[in-house]
Amino acid sequence: MTAQIIDGKAIATALKQDLKIATEQRLSEGKRKPGLAVVLIGGDPASKVYVGSKRRSCEEIGFKSDSYDLPETTTEAELLTLIDTLNNDPEIDGILVQLPLPDHINSDTVIQHIAADKDVDGFHPYNMGLLAQNNPQLRPCTPKGVMTLLNKTGIDLVGKEAVIIGQSNIVGRPMALELLAARCTITVCHSRTADLEFHVRRADVLVVGVGIANFIHGDWIKPGAVVIDVGINRLENGKLAGDVDFESAKEKAGYITPVPGGVGPMTVATLLENTLYAAENLHSD
Ligand code: GUN
Repeated sequence: MTAQIIDGKAIATALKQDLKIATEQRLSEGKRKPGLAVVLIGGDPASKVYVGSKRRSCEEIGFKSDSYDLPETTTEAELLTLIDTLNNDPEIDGILVQLPLPDHINSDTVIQHIAADKDVDGFHPYNMGLLAQNNPQLRPCTPKGVMTLLNKTGIDLVGKEAVIIGQSNIVGRPMALELLAARCTITVCHSRTADLEFHVRRADVLVVGVGIANFIHGDWIKPGAVVIDVGINRLENGKLAGDVDFESAKEKAGYITPVPGGVGPMTVATLLENTLYAAENLHSD
């Protein structure tokens, strides 16, 4: 059996098209453009690529996009002052501070300083708390984007065994809450999990976000499983690879996301979806 490829790029393009139309509709009603501020500290090459893609997509669909590229030496106090300004800017609906931050800046302090109604990353404890209580408002982009992929592909999740590998605040934890809300039975594995292979072998839905190229071997995958690969790893030859060994996994899975072109484009499209949501529902004009 060869898996059906879940085309994240196509699903993200369609979502962005819908957002563009909704934005035009907003403007025709005399409302302002949704506004997103994207803050990058330092010059990490991967972060620069992600931030560039977020800013470009913003402009493509007609949002106001404010860019702040600050040096590695920026202090925490300076960053918090910028966030204060953006929190009070009536033309800004969303604030994204690209992670990871330099070691001298405490990312928890920064995340908690962003107004919860502009936290389009969904990382603020208020938004994570609402998600944990199954009453979400602004939902973390990568897990929400994965749920869109699963829904658009028509995958029935109710009662399925979902195994999530990775416990990060950006992917693993909110992903577990999303799949729980979708009525899966969830297992979260991490670096101290005693028998990873055992859990992978019984997963109907497998989501992997650990940041290690080809970490999951295809022969572990349950026949027909849905495999969602959140990893984006740069190999020594310059190519990108996921956390799942795609070539062997696609021979066993029922559905699989490729890298690139799977989850990555959905993270960006979902950030824009969250920004429009904030403009429409959380901010008056
Ligand atoms: N770094 C990796 N993924 C993300 C994300 O979704 N949001 C932010 N702000 N930083 C990230």
